[in-house]
This record gives sequence, C-alpha cells and structure tokens, in this order.
Amino acid sequence: MSLVVGVGLRSGTPYAELEAAVAAAVRDLPGEIRLLVTLTGRESEPALQQLAAHLGADLRTFSKDELARPTPTPSDQVAALKGIPSVAEAAVLAAGAELLVPKTKTPNTTVAVGRHAAPGYPDQDRDAVHRVIAERRDVRRGFLQTPIDEDRLTRVLEAAHRAPSVGLSQPWDFLLIRDVATRRKVYDLAIGQRNAFARSLPEQRRQLFDGLKIEAILDAPLNIAVTCDPGRGGRHVLGRHADPRTTWFSAAIAIQNLWLAARAEGLGVGWVSFFGPQEVAAVLGLPAHIELVGYLCVGRVDEFAAAPELVRSGWAKRRPLSWAVHHEEWGSRDTSIVDDAQQAAQNAVPATGQRIHVIVGGDATHLEQAESLVVDLRDTRPEHDFGVLWRPARTPEEAEEYGVEIARDLALQGAGHLDVRLAADSPVARALAAGLRTGASACGLTHDLTSG
Ligand SMILES: Cc1cc2nc3c(=O)[nH]c(=O)nc-3n(C[C@H](O)[C@H](O)[C@H](O)COP(=O)(O)O)c2cc1C
Repeated sequence: MSLVVGVGLRSGTPYAELEAAVAAAVRDLPGEIRLLVTLTGRESEPALQQLAAHLGADLRTFSKDELARPTPTPSDQVAALKGIPSVAEAAVLAAGAELLVPKTKTPNTTVAVGRHAAPGYPDQDRDAVHRVIAERRDVRRGFLQTPIDEDRLTRVLEAAHRAPSVGLSQPWDFLLIRDVATRRKVYDLAIGQRNAFARSLPEQRRQLFDGLKIEAILDAPLNIAVTCDPGRGGRHVLGRHADPRTTWFSAAIAIQNLWLAARAEGLGVGWVSFFGPQEVAAVLGLPAHIELVGYLCVGRVDEFAAAPELVRSGWAKRRPLSWAVHHEEWGSRDTSIVDDAQQAAQNAVPATGQRIHVIVGGDATHLEQAESLVVDLRDTRPEHDFGVLWRPARTPEEAEEYGVEIARDLALQGAGHLDVRLAADSPVARALAAGLRTGASACGLTHDLTSG
C-alpha cells in the first residue's frame, strides 16, 4: 500500500518530534510512505525536508483555499470542526487519498495518514490518449499504395495483442492479406451484400446510400481478418463459463486497440462487415473452428477526417452521452427523458428526412413496405428482425419513455417524419405513441397519428 502523510507543524519543530509522530501514526499500517503533504509555505521547514529525504518521499503542498474545499470523507473529528479542518487531514484528502488514520497531535505537529490513489498520467500524456480516441476514424477513402513499414505494423499488432481477454484466453488471431486475387474475392462478397442492403432500403434512403463508400478492400494495401477461436484455452477459462459471448467481446476489443494504435501511427483502418461471416471464412479457407470477427482495410491515408463519414454525409448522427448514462436503475438519467424531450421540442428545427411508418403494438406481419417499423409490445421476444423493435413496457410511464427514445434514435438515423399507427389499443400502446410524438417533436420531426 502506498501511504500519504498529511502534516501540520509549527515553525522550528524538532525533527525528532516530527519523525516520532509520523512513525506512531503509521505504526500498524503495511506499506510505504510515498508522499508528504502540507500547507503551502511549510515545505521549507527543515524537519519536514529532512523527513522527506529520509523516507525518499515526495513533498507536496496545498494552499489554504485548496485545503478549505469541502472534502468527501472527513473524519468525525474534522466534521466536528465545522469547516476548519486540520491541515493534516485536509492535505491528505486534497491529495486525493482516502483517510486511514485521523489526526494525531504532538505539541508542535499534527499528523494524519491516507491511502494513496494511484496517479493518472501527466496532463499531456492523458490528453494524447483522449486525442487518439477522439481522432480515430473509420477510413474508406484516400488510401496510399505506399507499403506499411514492418515496425509500424508490428507495433499496431502488439497493441491489439495486448487487449484484455476473458480468462486471458486471447482468442484472437490476425490473418494478414495482401494478395489481390484473395482480396478481389472478398470484395465481390462485399459488393453482393451492398447491393442486397441497397435493395432493402426505402427509395430516399437508398439514394443517400448510393453515395457512400462502405469498404476499401482493394484500395488499401493490406487487409486484416481478425478471428476468434471460441474454445481457446479449454474447459476452464476464467469468466467465460456463464457467458460465452465474452470470447467475441475480447476479440472485438483487440480490434479497438489495433484501431487506436493505427491512428497514432498514421495508418487508416476501415472495418467492413458487409458479408455473412461464413462467406469470408470460406474464401479465406479458415478452419471450421475459427470464426471471423472483423475484416479490416489498413494502410497509409492522405488524411483523417474530423468527423465520421456517416455524419458528414447526413446518414446518421452521434447520440449524446447524457442519453446513454443511467444511475442505479435503468431509465434514471440526469434529466427525465420525457421532460427533456418536451423542452427540446420548443426549439426544434424541422428536420427533413425519410418518412417512417411506425406501427405500435404490431408484429412482423405488419412489415409491408421498407418504410415500416413495428414496435412489438408483447411479453415474449419476437423472432429476430431489424424491422421489429421489441419493447415489452411494464407501465405506461415506461412505454412513454421508450417512445421518446425510439423517436430520438430514429431521428439520429435520418428520419424526418413519423406516421404513427396504433395496431393495438391499450394504455401502454397509447403511452408509447405519445412518447413517439414527444420525442419526434423534440428532434424536429413531423408526425401523424392514426389508429386501427
Ligand atoms: C462492428 C463494425 C462494423 C462496421 N462495418 C462497416 C462497414 O461494413 N462499412 C463501413 O463503411 N463502415 C463500417 N463500420 C464503421 C462505422 O460506420 C463507423 O465506425 C461509424 O460510422 C463511426 O465513425 P468513426 O469510426 O469514424 O468514428 C463498422 C464499424 C464497426 C464497429
């Protein structure tokens, strides 16, 4: 354990007194003193300097203002002092440590001890991490044919291989594909799936999709198939027994590590998923027990765009963080989703975009045209179909929230108008429809409601 010792002392305090006070305070604690903390100005006290040198500990100071800031875990003793905390305790807390030993006093000193929280990176390094996360892009355009130098590629693969994995099973492998003939076969698969997806789209959406590039299989000099061996490590892989999906999660995280490291190395990466995994496995001749997780196009690029291509092209928008954070219970967000939407509705700018027919309380049999989307309210999970959103709301309030959420998420995926139809008339269906309308208004979507 790493200890932080907070010290308050009078000027001229003898070294022996301070040293004995600190030794007594930490007597029963395992670990080493790494940091001494005190009030600004006291660091020049010879006794404190001598103690820091003797312990090999850093010495850090805090101003009166910093020490006076409310502290989350003062001892009862400090709380009783009503805002005039002991320098020793306040300094321990200001250092971000957890108080372990409350203040003890000698004639000239006060000493408190805390458990040091391991530090984060210095600001500049931390900013670099956040920068690479923000500036990582899925890249499909602007690849150079320049070969990727081996050192760079090795560093990127090492980053991927350092990913966390369930039970340390490291279920991934990286198949590097440069051969044009192989890549052409994979490309043909992607184009087949691209055409199938295009046919499934409503007309307006299809026109927009036609302008998007969804792969760079032949443009990038290197393709990497990232695979997963779901059985790797045998029977007793720690953490996998109850949830086998953790194996695939692990491989996906390896891809994210690869993607981030590649960005830092100036390598563009584009993830292509326009194929059935078995199709690619067959082209690549993968062993039957090995599964494809991600197919990546990799190479030097002329630039990294500032925003995702899907955002720049108007295909989709990013979801705000506040929609995604719940406290303690599902749905308990910083602000009520319904209030939030009602407020936003006042300033909403009308959106243009596709018309979607939302059928509330229906099932897959209602999916007549490509524009239809069903919200299934029944208790049993329907067959998998992306045209059916399963929302078995337990109460009308919950249904209303789901409605707001669905409308907002549709707005992010290019909706401009919702035709809401009630296929079942129940309090839950009506509440969900009301939520859809509130959410739609919030995002500037126009909407109609019909029943039956
Ligand atoms: C699992 C997965 C599969 C993806 N498949 C494709 C794809 O087939 N074609 C494509 O153009 N983009 C694909 N992408 C990239 C996403 O469209 C992209 O990550 C998203 O629009 C956000 O952009 P950004 O990665 O630049 O931040 C995929 C991304 C992930 C994570």
